[in-house]
Amino acid sequence: MKLSMFKKAALVPALLFPFASMSQGLTFNPQNYTVQEIAVNGKQMKVRAYEHVVYVAKPVDTVYQQMNIYIPEAYFNKGSINGYTAQTAPIFFPNQVGGYMPGRPGTAINAGRGPGPGGPAGMPPGGMPAGGMPPGGPGSNMGPGGNRVSTIAAALLNGYVVASPGARGRPTKDEKGIYTGKAPAAIVDLKAAVRYLKFNDKLMPGDASKIISNGTSAGGALSALLGATGNNKDYEPYLKAIGAADASDDIFAVSAYCPITNLDHADMAYEWQFNSVNTYKKINISMLDYKVQRTETAGELSSKEQVVSAQLKVLFPAYVNSLQLKGKQGQLLQLDKDGNGSFKNWVKSYVIASAQKVLDSGKDLSALKWLTITGGKVTGLDFDGYVHYMERMKTPPAFDALNLSTGENQLFGTATVDKAHFTKFSADNSAVKAVTADAIVVKMMNPMDYIGRADTKTSAHWRIRHGTKDKDTGLAVSVMLATLLQNKGYDVNLELPWDRPHSGDYDQNELFSWIDGISK
Ligand code: DHB
Repeated sequence: MKLSMFKKAALVPALLFPFASMSQGLTFNPQNYTVQEIAVNGKQMKVRAYEHVVYVAKPVDTVYQQMNIYIPEAYFNKGSINGYTAQTAPIFFPNQVGGYMPGRPGTAINAGRGPGPGGPAGMPPGGMPAGGMPPGGPGSNMGPGGNRVSTIAAALLNGYVVASPGARGRPTKDEKGIYTGKAPAAIVDLKAAVRYLKFNDKLMPGDASKIISNGTSAGGALSALLGATGNNKDYEPYLKAIGAADASDDIFAVSAYCPITNLDHADMAYEWQFNSVNTYKKINISMLDYKVQRTETAGELSSKEQVVSAQLKVLFPAYVNSLQLKGKQGQLLQLDKDGNGSFKNWVKSYVIASAQKVLDSGKDLSALKWLTITGGKVTGLDFDGYVHYMERMKTPPAFDALNLSTGENQLFGTATVDKAHFTKFSADNSAVKAVTADAIVVKMMNPMDYIGRADTKTSAHWRIRHGTKDKDTGLAVSVMLATLLQNKGYDVNLELPWDRPHSGDYDQNELFSWIDGISK
């Protein structure tokens, strides 16, 4: 934060100059806290909890445009934790968004994904459309038996300041019935929360030049988008409209679990991977009396869906090739018209590395005939065998459904239209009368379009995880993101954890070691 900004907002009496600063009313009040005692695995800590901090001057939604901030008590008494002090502690910034639904700020006690993406208040009538994620669902960090393993509490014990932002989501409406949470609202909210932290850096323990975003699935996608798009001007009018604080919004690092991102190319990536699999196990999620019901519907692609799958699959090589991605030796990563080539081998190499890791730890993989293992080394992978083992979850198009039935269709609606297409393919082949989202809005939701641009400050450090059994989006989505970042010179750590289904925050210790490694 620049000291001059702080002076303007904090030292000039707001009453004398009620319209002096856009950031008016956004000054952090260090006295406005409660003391909470957190406990994880026998370790305890007192923290100051600043909850329900509205982070914009002109909120359009007072439920979600707020943030919970937790600061270890030690940082108010010149103490240090894990080598960090009030001046040096990184700020861990986990969002709780799932399914592109509204996300409430996370809490230190009983933390997790709060009452679920959006919770009951944000649920659209008729339950959660496909693509959403329930509390305790695959995207949550519920422990066995329903006990939540609190990432926020664990992060505090590790010496981080934690700021967990809420954000608007796809069904959010105001009292006039106008939709307020359509794209790009959620990313605008996260940026506004970052600006609040930077604007108030001098008033708060923790180093706002070390903000580390964390999220899973749609929340992982938003985490990646936040890291990719720092200070880009495209978002400025939206930030102005909600009265975001006068500060920058670039962040230090990104942790993203199974980011459901690159939505405008995710349909083709999905069919490039799953085209040979004609059966599916769709997970339907509904809410009954605020209790999540998850049902799996098995089915077979219709002949029409099989045609759509083939049409989407052949679109993918041109997209991958246009990215001009490069491997470790500088070799171009490409696909031929059948979807084979160096990029496919590149994706396979990450799955093979994952298999090798568990093989080295003693796991018996000999039953998996699609893996070739010779002398303790995984030397080959039959991609077709692997994707049949994974099983298909979504029907084509997986994201921009021809009948507008996905959560992503609802994400790309407008203030007055609930659902829209966001790809040319689905707009051209729509099964219903539909509008198409603005190209600029689609772009603003895709980190690939911003990484490393001269007018943008992309995060320096990235940790991306996507399980080898996660079929909520194609593996290529995370691989393309990581590779583009690597090629542009950013520090990237990508792994595909073995047999992991769609989930996040399952490796807290490794996550925190990575954070310590880049922060100290
Ligand atoms: C999530 C899962 C999906 O399958 C999807 O399409 C979007 C979001 C999620 O878990 O957040």
